[in-house]
Amino acid sequence: MLTPKKHKKLHKKSNKKSAKKKTGHNQWEDHLSRRARSEGYPARSIYKLEEIQNKYKVLKKNDLVIDLGCSPGSWSLYASKLVGEKGRVYGIDLKTIDIKLPSNVIAIQDNILNMTNKPFLSDAKGLNVVLSDMAPATTGRKDVDALRSFELCNMAFGVANDLLVKNGNFICKIFQGNDFNAFQKNVKSKFKMCKVFKPESCRKQSKEIYIIAIGKK
Ligand SMILES: C[S@@+](CC[C@H](N)C(=O)[O-])C[C@H]1O[C@@H](n2cnc3c(N)ncnc32)[C@H](O)[C@@H]1O
Repeated sequence: MLTPKKHKKLHKKSNKKSAKKKTGHNQWEDHLSRRARSEGYPARSIYKLEEIQNKYKVLKKNDLVIDLGCSPGSWSLYASKLVGEKGRVYGIDLKTIDIKLPSNVIAIQDNILNMTNKPFLSDAKGLNVVLSDMAPATTGRKDVDALRSFELCNMAFGVANDLLVKNGNFICKIFQGNDFNAFQKNVKSKFKMCKVFKPESCRKQSKEIYIIAIGKK
């Protein structure tokens, strides 16, 4: 028999479920996750990079690419297909990648804010593309999360600035916050074109957005 407390709890749960059903968000997200798995990708994030690629053509055959925040591996896998066997993808993440990676992907576990394997970065000289899908562990406090995301973005921008070849491209996820405009202005000054793009496959409620910087000066 249900106690009044349990009954209230159950009622709350079913209300939540029907609210999600009404918005359709969960069904769309489930659909993307299922589709990613069926196409051999570990995460639905693949579709964000696919949308970016379809619109801006950031990756091409034989490119040398750095993928910052590469775990669980969807972007690296997708990029490896586009750059082909003569291209190369260098991935870095705090976490390991559990999927089997193609031979043109080299991934290491490290913290971009405090790299222990610094030579790994300088090995990737002549870089054509820097991708950063890094996201901090969220705290629920929007200002703190945005500040931590900004810190990661600055680090990624530093890598792009130091290692990209002329005309190289930089893609960077950022949580919109107080520092967003300053960051975008900074990136804009170093690239021929700089756009802000929110892929359809991003969670609608999420504050994440992508800076697309094309053609390093
Ligand atoms: C949204 S996930 C990236 C998903 C990835 N693009 C994919 O398609 O599989 C964000 C990643 O950023 C990584 N990350 C966060 N802070 C980092 C740091 N300081 N150094 C390296 N990676 C970091 C997290 O561990 C997490 O795996």
